[in-house]
Formats: sequence, structure tokens, C-alpha cells
Amino acid sequence: MSPSECLSALQAELGDAVVSLGAQIVGRRFADWSGLPAAAPLALVRPRDTAEVARALAVCRRFGQPVVTQGGLTGLAGGACTGANDVALSLERMNHIEAVDAVSATMTVQAGATLQAVQDAAAAAGFMFPLDLGARGSCTIGGNLATNAGGVRVIKYGMARDQVLGLQAVLADGSVLDGMHKMIKNNAGYDLRNLMIGSEGTLGVITRAVLKLRPQVADSATAWCGLGDYADVARLLGQAQRRLPTGVSAFEVMWPSFIGYMFDHVAGLRSPLDTRHDFYVLLESDGAGQAQHAQVFEAFLGEMIEEGVIENAALAQSQSDAAAFWRIRDSTADFPILMPDLIAFDVSFPIADIGRAAQQTDAALRTRWPDSTVLTYGHLGDGNLHLIVQVPGGGQATADAVEALVYGIVRQYRGSVSAEHGIGAKKRDVLGHTRSAAELAAMRAVKYALDPCGILNPGKVLPAD
Ligand code: FAD
Ligand code: LAC
Ligand code: ZN
Repeated sequence: MSPSECLSALQAELGDAVVSLGAQIVGRRFADWSGLPAAAPLALVRPRDTAEVARALAVCRRFGQPVVTQGGLTGLAGGACTGANDVALSLERMNHIEAVDAVSATMTVQAGATLQAVQDAAAAAGFMFPLDLGARGSCTIGGNLATNAGGVRVIKYGMARDQVLGLQAVLADGSVLDGMHKMIKNNAGYDLRNLMIGSEGTLGVITRAVLKLRPQVADSATAWCGLGDYADVARLLGQAQRRLPTGVSAFEVMWPSFIGYMFDHVAGLRSPLDTRHDFYVLLESDGAGQAQHAQVFEAFLGEMIEEGVIENAALAQSQSDAAAFWRIRDSTADFPILMPDLIAFDVSFPIADIGRAAQQTDAALRTRWPDSTVLTYGHLGDGNLHLIVQVPGGGQATADAVEALVYGIVRQYRGSVSAEHGIGAKKRDVLGHTRSAAELAAMRAVKYALDPCGILNPGKVLPAD
């Protein structure tokens, strides 16, 4: 059966309003933020509800037609990039916030709703949706769940999978897994919801979700801290978790290379400290609305300075101060413009090893490529390090060598090749650095049990057989 028969069948099933072909999709973007190439697909399918997703997949399954599901295309692993023989299935029309249930503290949404829309709707209803990341305005809840996204508040609230009570997904044969539950406890059989979460469009299409909401936080205390060595960074993390009554809601660490580069290249950033340090920590403790929250936080910073853990700190005196601190951290969104040829990593290590692993990686890269730029930062409270590497004049062979070097160190420390961005097309060949042969075999068994014809996002996540 030829692709054109499949396209005719899709149009017959769903009509021109849902299925766009050829000239109708010229000029549209089909690549994500990974920098990997993408080609215009055979067709773009934009269903309006779960039933239309199911009908589209049933047709594609009949023809063995590969399908790439797309959310906001902000992914960093190439998972949503299409090839010329794929059908793209976009959730952009399924973007409704269906309901907020104040009693069970849940929000029911379609998967194409943006993270920002969900955060705003939660706030309007007096709640908080804590998942947060720089791409919030464009990324979708479906994409967040499909990649099990992390972001800056994982340390307190967990990853995308921790924000979900119920999930609806369509399997490759068009059958609908309807798990739109609001229960916190549900041990009835295998956890299919968590199987879908993090599967990057290879096991099913996530169509709707019941999200868990948290009480709105009344205030946040935020500080920008300068520290002298990694042992003190780890000490600060431990002490903050132990001594701050409302815990740590963000613990973002930036190395001087990152800070120096950002201040040199991004307009409008102001250093919160006039002193220089070997490590910078953006520490946030979101509060319970107690009047003494700010005083307790300030006293804690004073103690940390007295005990020699922190060298210097700037306490945000206002929301605009806090926003200015966060702007430094969030300026990573400018990387694609600042460094179009960057080689980016999203790795994780045991927290105790991060200082050494980061130093070893930086030294090895600079020794081999002396004029390289190496920027290091990350969600350190989660053991998650981001490395940005640029080698002037380096082509694909250099990028491959940089990746081999970095992933070799990750393997040495038994870290992960992907902490939060996923595997997609970009890291499938190094999945085996982090997963054993038995784990890969189990993943393949699951994949082919649920998608025997391999139509869902082929060539992503799992290494070639
Ligand atoms: P896409 O890019 O469209 O798709 C991502 C993957 O999910 C693909 O494999 C796709 O096939 C699949 N997919 C999408 N929707 C569905 C669905 N409904 N059902 C099944 N599969 C689906 N990520 C983090 O984890 N932490 C961060 O801090 C972070 N910061 C970022 C900052 C910036 C500036 C940018 C550009 C990206 C950042 N990301 C971060 C990466 C990205 O935002 C997340 O991976 C996000 O979850 C992707 O959502 P999306 O809707 O754009 O998905
Ligand atoms: C960040 C994204 C890239 O943390 O994950 O900046
Ligand atoms: Zn990140």
C-alpha cells in the first residue's frame, strides 16, 4: 500500500479541515529546538478531540504509516522532528482547559494546552501548578508529559509525572486508554499512566490529563549566593533542606563560566553581587504565607555566611529583584541565537560527584579543544547538570568527539545521558550508556507489544535493533 493511499484514506476519514497536505503546510516549522534536521511530512493531521486522534491512528496503523506526534516543538532531543515519509499529528487544536475541581484540587485539560495556560488557569482558581520551565509559553502539557519534563522546581514538587492523577492516551491501533481518574491512590494493576509518561510519542498519543494542583504559595524568599567551592554548595543544599521551615523550592547552580558568558552576551542582566565567586546559587524557598518567612530566610543566610558556607549573598527585597535573579538563569533561552552551533548536554550524576565530574569534564574539553567555550549550570538539587559546549570551526566529527568525551565521563560515574530532556533522536545511540541490555530488551518488548507495526515515532528513543 502506498503513502498516497493512506493520505486519501486519512482525508476520507477526517476531511480537509483536519488533514492538510503538500502546499497547505509549506512554510510551517516541523523541527524542535534540538538543532536536528527535519523535513516537511507527507501530511499534517490536527485533530479536534480524542475520537479524531483515534480515527487518525487507526487509519495510519492500517497502512503501516509512521506518525510523529507534535506538541509545542520546544523539545531538545529531536523527538518531534518529522522526516519526509512521516505524518505529523499536532495537538494544537486540543488546547482546552476543560475544568477545575476545587474540592479534589485537580484540573482537567486537553494535551495541547500550553504549560503557561495551565499555570495561569491554576492561579486564577487560587491554586498553583508547580511545573515550570523556560519554554512555558510554547510547550504543551502533552509534550511535558511525553518527555516527563523537569524544570526548576523539581526539588520540591517533582517532575511532570508527579503532577498527574489521570491520563488519557490513544494507542497505535486507535484504542483509547481512558484513565482520567482523580484518585490519589490507585493500585489496580499495572500503572499505564506512568508507562505513557516519558515515552516521547513512541507508545501512544497523550490526549487529555487530570492534573494535580497545589495550594497557591503566598510568597517566595529568593537569594543569589556566591560560594567558594563545591563542598560548600552541597553543604548549603543540605542545610537549606534541613533548616528552612518551608523547604527548598529551587536550587539552581551556575559556574563562573556560565555567569561570565551570560553577562557578556545578554543585554540587561545585572550582577546581584559585586564580588566574584567559584559558584553561584539561586536559592528559593516558597513560603506558607507566614509573616516571619522572610525573616527566617534572611537569618538562615546570615548563619550560612557566619558558618563560612556562603561567601556573600544578595537577598531579593522585592518581586522585581527576584525576577531579575531568575532572568539570569532563564537567559538560557537565548542560546540558540547566541550559539547556533552549540553542543548541549542534559546529564545527571549523584549529587556528591557533581563537583568533581563537572571539573573533570571542563578540564578534559578545554585540554582537547583549547579555544572551546564550556558553560556549566544546572538544577543541582536534582543532580542535573547542563553543559553547553562550542568549538569554533568544529563540524560534525568534532561534535561526535565532544559527545563521546562527555558521555564517557557520564558512564564512568554511572550517571544518566538524559536527566530531563529525553532521548528522542538525539541520544538513542547512547541510551545503552545508562540502561543495561536487559532494560533495553524490556523497553523493546513493551514498545512492540503496544505498537507491533512500529508506526509511533519510529527511530526515536530505542537504539536500532
Ligand atoms: P514537543 O517538542 O512538541 O515534543 C516532545 C516529545 O514529546 C516528542 O517526542 C513528541 O513526539 C512527544 N509528544 C509531544 N506531545 C505529545 C503527546 N500529546 N502525546 C505523545 N507524545 C507527545 N525541559 C525540561 O525538562 N526542563 C527544562 O528546564 C527545560 N527548559 C527548556 C527551556 C527552553 C527555552 C526550551 C526551548 C526547552 C526547554 N525544555 C526543558 C525542553 C522542552 O520544553 C520540554 O521537553 C517540553 O516538555 C516539550 O514540550 P513540547 O510540547 O514542546 O513537546
Ligand atoms: C534549562 C533547560 C535547557 O534548564 O533544561 O535551562
Ligand atoms: Zn534544565
